[in-house]
Amino acid sequence: SHYHHQLFQNFWCPSIHVEAVESMQKHFQAKESDVIVASFPKSGTIWIKALTFAIINHQRFSSFENHPLLTSNPHELVPFLESLFGGNFNDHQIQLLENKPDPRLFGTHTPFPSLPESIKESNCKVVYICRNPFDNFVSAWIYFNKIKPDSLPPIPLDDAFELYCEGILDYGPWWSHMLDYWKESVAKPNKVLFLKYDDLKEDTNFHVKRIAEFFGCSFTEEEENNGTVENIIQICSFEKMKDLAVNKSGKVGKAAVDKKNFFRKGENGDWINHFSPSMIEKLSKIVEEKFDGSGLSFKNCS
Ligand code: A3P
Repeated sequence: SHYHHQLFQNFWCPSIHVEAVESMQKHFQAKESDVIVASFPKSGTIWIKALTFAIINHQRFSSFENHPLLTSNPHELVPFLESLFGGNFNDHQIQLLENKPDPRLFGTHTPFPSLPESIKESNCKVVYICRNPFDNFVSAWIYFNKIKPDSLPPIPLDDAFELYCEGILDYGPWWSHMLDYWKESVAKPNKVLFLKYDDLKEDTNFHVKRIAEFFGCSFTEEEENNGTVENIIQICSFEKMKDLAVNKSGKVGKAAVDKKNFFRKGENGDWINHFSPSMIEKLSKIVEEKFDGSGLSFKNCS
């Protein structure tokens, strides 16, 4: 079940993905043209997958009437490496991956140190998203209670919060996850683009242009004026994606999660509705302690 994770290579790996992470480390051969969309869970993965797909393909799908994002869930267009690899991984699947048209887009929640060597060493690009820990926690707690099997009781807020403060959450500790990608983005800004959900939400237009620039497919002046950027933002917006038939029913991925559970509120600062003063104090302290001197900081939390 989703309750099961284990400390593996210094992170809390969901038990159902341990084999997959090992298998992708062994078999995945990154190409220079690959795009890896990395994230800490519940940080806007689905949003950055949609945006990255739309931005990279903006010349191919310049008409938005039959855009793939209208008929496919972003997790289908940008599959998780952790879902593609695993127990039944074989030569046939290697071939399928080889035959995928360039640029290949993949998602991952795996921490930077545990990515396949070929991703770390090749010139393929990585776009990373995380979120202020306050909203990240609330999103994770509510999501977790939605996807848990009916046979298990819901996790009370306080228990979930204790675990979060210990860093015990799938792919955590969250601070190491964020800091490892952060350091890599500082050392290699052309390789890793580090984004925060909070910033993306605050000024989507600015960040869409920044992402395009990072991938070497900047918008022309004409595209900026003819609504291309706004169209991309629209098609990837929370309201639009949540309302699509394809995102309202059905399941996706190895964990067979109901697609509708990926869309909740999609706002900054909802944590204020769930945090007590003592929780605020405790998490603020941890954030301060863990990120002190790193250059990484978050708005939208105290
Ligand atoms: P909330 O629970 O705060 O609403 P992930 O994709 O990593 O699981 O992240 C899920 C969070 O992203 C949820 O946050 C979800 O509502 C939000 N989200 C989903 N689609 C979005 C979109 N198109 N734009 C902004 N936020 C989105």
